[in-house]
Amino acid sequence: MSNLGHNYGTVRIQGDDPAVNTDRRRLLRIVGKGSVLAAFLAQLGAAGRAFFPNVLYEPPRKFNLKRPHDYPVGYTFDAAHRLYVIRNANAFHVISAICTHLGCNVQWKGTEFDCPCHGSRFNPDGTVISGPAPQPLSWFEANESPDGFLQVDTAEPVARGFRFVPPNLKA
Ligand code: FES
Repeated sequence: MSNLGHNYGTVRIQGDDPAVNTDRRRLLRIVGKGSVLAAFLAQLGAAGRAFFPNVLYEPPRKFNLKRPHDYPVGYTFDAAHRLYVIRNANAFHVISAICTHLGCNVQWKGTEFDCPCHGSRFNPDGTVISGPAPQPLSWFEANESPDGFLQVDTAEPVARGFRFVPPNLKA
């Protein structure tokens, strides 16, 4: 006898339930639309970021120090600005205290600048005696502000040998 034509009932495979399929489709639709919305918002945020450019807030490169007559003759270290103010009679010049090797503060030792980090040595005019510093110390423009302070511009390197004589100190 053949089994053809007999009904053995309906076999239900888990997930074939129309109610479950509808829920799954709804969930996938929500996930899909959510992804598109998230991508759109990310792009919008990136585009909006362009209206706020990166700004690097650095300390001003031109600043006032003390009044010229407040400096003694010789080398005066200014830790806040990492430089030396050198007064020779009434003439001033300013040399960077930043070692050109890796940026430590050099120390004035009476006859030369020494770097405590890796041993570089510099002449009183900032030129290198011995490395590893590859470059001499920078000299900066010095001037007098309208209100009578010594003014330095570290954005304006000047030639070695530059001197500034404040008008009020001129003999
Ligand atoms: S930082 Fe001055 S010698 Fe290295």
